[in-house]
Amino acid sequence: MTSATQLQQQPNGQGGDDDDGMGAEFTRTVVEAMGPATSPRLREVMSALIRHVHDFAREVQLTTDEWMAGVQLINAAGQMSNEKRNEGQLLCDVIGLESLVDHITFSAATKSTKGLTASAILGPFWRHDTPLRENGSSISFDTPADAQVVFMHGRVADVATGAPLADATVEVWQASTNGLYEQQDDEQVEHNLRGVFKTDAQGAYSLYCLRPTPYPVPQDGPAGKLLGLMDRHVFRPAHIHFMVVADGYRSLVTQIFDEDCKYLANDSVFAVKDDLRVRFEPRAGDERASLELEYNINLAKAE
Ligand code: BEZ
Ligand code: FE
Repeated sequence: MTSATQLQQQPNGQGGDDDDGMGAEFTRTVVEAMGPATSPRLREVMSALIRHVHDFAREVQLTTDEWMAGVQLINAAGQMSNEKRNEGQLLCDVIGLESLVDHITFSAATKSTKGLTASAILGPFWRHDTPLRENGSSISFDTPADAQVVFMHGRVADVATGAPLADATVEVWQASTNGLYEQQDDEQVEHNLRGVFKTDAQGAYSLYCLRPTPYPVPQDGPAGKLLGLMDRHVFRPAHIHFMVVADGYRSLVTQIFDEDCKYLANDSVFAVKDDLRVRFEPRAGDERASLELEYNINLAKAE
């Protein structure tokens, strides 16, 4: 029987861990059980997943109880999920997987990232049915007393030429100052703090929103439990979500982060990028808003 120490020194299931019959040879048998009708990409993904999961189990010498605790965590995430809540995604978020996959997807899709607005994770609170609103209107329907209102405006342009992109959709969504998105909170009207805006002929969009505030990710499910077990805090830094879509261009999903927020360096879901930090400036002469933010977005042509 190979010792745990030996196994740790021999990752990838290679070499001397085969003598108990459950090393590289066993893993190969499982991988090779896939039939000829498996698509090449699924074969690639599943082969790697099986190899890494087997290596992980061998490396940590996973016990039956520990494996079952993991199975129950995944089951609980599924049972909690519905159209308003995606606990499986949240579990991936707290271990950095959505951020990593976003980075891989964004890098693979763009030859040069110079000047291109960086992407960030979608997160679990996007809705597919957000209403279209007029430029210059507000997404806040019952502005909380402790909120600061921001006039946010900017242009969407082609990253290579700077040409404005008319008729692009700029979708924004944010949590309220109580830390909740409208679908988590019966006190907020439906679609509060979210809206879709269309750019005009100059590529411009504008809206009133709230200065974002930090909020905790939901703690009442397996993701919150896992954060607690790992002795980690639950806060996301203050941010606003964007999804920008223009004909013939790569769609962008991103977030902007208030550079004054104390959680920037340790986002509970690892989504902050330096390029996405913004400064809210004082705004004079507008009774609707005390702050202003100009945020311009550059998109790359679809290949
Ligand atoms: C969010 O920003 O809405 C979010 C992202 C990941 C996990 C939880 C919330
Ligand atoms: Fe968010």
